[in-house]
Amino acid sequence: MFMSGRFATVLLLLLLCPASVALAGPAENQALIDTARARWEGSPQAGWMVRILPPSVDAAALPEAGSGGAALLARYCAQCHHLPNPAMHHPDKWAKVVHRMVDRMRGHGNRGAQMRQMMGGLAAPDEEEVHMLIGYLRRNAQKPIDVARYPDLDTRGRSFRDACEQCHVLPEPASRTAGEWRRVVSRMERNMAWMNRVTGSQAVPGETQLRVPDILSYLTAHAAPATRTR
Ligand code: HEC
Ligand code: HEC
Repeated sequence: MFMSGRFATVLLLLLLCPASVALAGPAENQALIDTARARWEGSPQAGWMVRILPPSVDAAALPEAGSGGAALLARYCAQCHHLPNPAMHHPDKWAKVVHRMVDRMRGHGNRGAQMRQMMGGLAAPDEEEVHMLIGYLRRNAQKPIDVARYPDLDTRGRSFRDACEQCHVLPEPASRTAGEWRRVVSRMERNMAWMNRVTGSQAVPGETQLRVPDILSYLTAHAAPATRTR
C-alpha cells in the first residue's frame, strides 16, 4: 500500500513535469536521431556534414540517458551532424557552441540560411530549452587541464599540448588512469582522421606531427593511479 502510494506520487510528479521531453527515454531519443540522420545523409551536402563530428555516442550511451537534457540533445543536435558527445568540451565552452548552433537552427549566422533551406523543417529550441541544454552539457563536460599543475607542459608535454588542443581544450591528465588514456588516445587518432586534422600520416614540413608514444608517456606519467575509484 505504502509503496504503491509513493509510486503513484512519483508518477503524478512526472506527469505534471512541464517539459514533455522529460518523459522520453533512450529508445525514443534514438528514433529521433535515426530520422534526422536519414535526412541529412540524403542531402547534397552529406559528404561534408558527415565529417563535422565523428560518430561517438548513441542515445543509450549518453550521460543521464533518460533525462530531459539528453532528450533535447537528441532532438536538436543531431539534425546536421552526428550526435555531439558532452565530454568533448569543457563547461565554459558549451554555451558558446550552443548559441552558435541555435543561431543556425533559427536560420542566421554562418551557413544558417543554407542549412535551413537544405533541412526544411529544422526544429529550433526555445529559450528555456536552450538553458536546459547548456546545463546538461556543462554537467557532463570535459574536465579541463589545470595548467598550474603542469610546469612541464611546454617541454615534456609539447606533443600532448600541440596534438590534443586542436579540437577542444586540453583534458586534465589526472582525470584518467593510464589504461583509460590508451583507449581515449586511440579513439582520438580515429577522430583526427575522421575530422581531417593533423595525424602525422603525411609529413608536411613545419606542421605539427602526431607523436603518440610521446603523448602516452606524458599522460601515463601524470595519470590517476589505476586503483583509484571515481
Ligand atoms: C543547422 C545545423 C546544425 C544543428 C542543428 C547543430 N549543428 Fe553543430 N554544427 C553545424 C555546423 C555547420 C558545424 C561546423 C561549423 C562549426 O563548427 O560551426 C557544426 C559543428 C559542431 C561542433 C564541432 C565544432 C566545435 O565547436 O566543437 C559541435 C561540438 C557541435 N556542432 C555541437 C552542436 C550542438 C550541441 C547542437 C545542438 C544544440 C548542434 N551542434 C546542432 C551545424 C549544426
Ligand atoms: C580531430 C579533433 C580532435 C583532436 C585532435 C582530439 N580530440 Fe579529443 N575529442 C574529440 C571529439 C570529437 C570528442 C568527442 C567524441 C569522442 O569522445 O570520441 C573528443 C573527446 C575527448 C575526451 C572525452 C572522452 C570521454 O569519453 O570522456 C577526451 C578525454 C579527449 N577527447 C582527449 C583527447 C586527447 C588526449 C587528444 C590528443 C591525443 C585529443 N583528445 C585530440 C576530438 C578531438
